[in-house]
Amino acid sequence: MLNIGNHLRKTQTNLISLEKISFSWPNGQKILDNCSFSISKPGLWMIVGKNGSGKSTLFRLLNGMIEKDSGNFYCELRPSLMFQNPDHQLLLPTCKSDLMLSIPRSLTDSQRQKLIDKVLNQVGMKGFESRPIHTLSGGQKQRLALAGALASGSNLLLLDEPTALLDPISQNSVLEIVKELCSDKKNPMTAIWITHRINELKFCDSAAIMDKGSIGPWLTGEDLFNQLNSLAGR
Ligand SMILES: Nc1ncnc2c1ncn2[C@@H]1O[C@H](COP(=O)(O)OP(=O)(O)O)[C@@H](O)[C@H]1O
Ligand SMILES: [Mg+2]
Repeated sequence: MLNIGNHLRKTQTNLISLEKISFSWPNGQKILDNCSFSISKPGLWMIVGKNGSGKSTLFRLLNGMIEKDSGNFYCELRPSLMFQNPDHQLLLPTCKSDLMLSIPRSLTDSQRQKLIDKVLNQVGMKGFESRPIHTLSGGQKQRLALAGALASGSNLLLLDEPTALLDPISQNSVLEIVKELCSDKKNPMTAIWITHRINELKFCDSAAIMDKGSIGPWLTGEDLFNQLNSLAGR
């Protein structure tokens, strides 16, 4: 990496790189503290950590909603943020009208229609375009939010405990779809998934712990699961 000013320029293969990033909210509390990590390739990357360890703040930084106080940050992907509660991000009455909000205005009507068909298909919701949002299950709402991210042309999904409010079947359907999007042969997505449910670690490509504002090394999901599971048993 070349350090140019306060930004990192890509010289290797990293898609995202953070070097010693720090950030404090205006009350002075340091929430990101010398946080360093990089993501070198598409895939499903999971982060676990206690409440208040800075996970959601990190996502705000990756999404461009807040500016670092110090350190170097580089991200070549186009992020979309997804929250625990899909009702906070679905705005219009039907699946189609909601998706229209995410679609670039430059497209023609027939291009829009094609894109809507494509993204609904990608999230396993073919034929749902005229369904009223209030008739969807929690899992379907999260999948529709995913479809919106895809329609917007995003290639980085920032998923902040997306299954926290879902039952196990819906949880699984969202996990399976994100996993599939991230393992697509032609055009794989990059997803960073924050979770409190350690059984979800089994689905990921790599996982790390966030603690007191910084991120530990990337491990396999299985290794981190075993590590946390043995601690839980003590
Ligand atoms: N908008 C904000 N203004 C001030 N403090 C905040 C704000 N958002 C989060 N915090 C504080 O930052 C700390 C870390 O929060 P957060 O990043 O949400 O952690 P996590 O997602 O790991 O639970 C908490 O102490 C929280 O109160
Ligand atoms: Mg959080």
